[in-house]
Amino acid sequence: MHILVINGPNINMLGIREPDIYGKSTYADLCDVIKNKADEMNITVELFQSNHEGSIVDKIQEALGKADGIVINPAAYTHTSVAILDALKAVQIPTCEVHISDVNTREDFRKISYVGMYAEKTIAGYGFDGYIMAMEYLKEKYGK
Ligand code: DQA
Repeated sequence: MHILVINGPNINMLGIREPDIYGKSTYADLCDVIKNKADEMNITVELFQSNHEGSIVDKIQEALGKADGIVINPAAYTHTSVAILDALKAVQIPTCEVHISDVNTREDFRKISYVGMYAEKTIAGYGFDGYIMAMEYLKEKYGK
């Protein structure tokens, strides 16, 4: 099984940005957590982070026929991007949405998720563990 893990804008600033909300660990730490878990689960992962909406759309399109599942934290694009929603709907790859923070208990604008209109599961508020939970969900349901 191959899973594509996509992180959106400012996730590369983990460890620096708002540590009270997102913690002190870095994006490199997050990548290590995901790669170690993938090895343990006997699956392959590709990690992708971009601050650009179109690059994320391109990456989703390129995953067609390659990825068996997508784990995505669209970050701020969660709340704005019809383009990312449409790309996911186009490729029809099983998708889990992840947020490090609990978006439902923050500002009202964070309660709207376009990606959540396609994702079969949303995990929010579990920090880095949310990515692991999403990988386990996809492996359980679609693993081969
Ligand atoms: C986030 C939550 C978003 O509202 C925010 O814009 C982010 C990160 C999270 O992981 O908690 O950049 O997706």
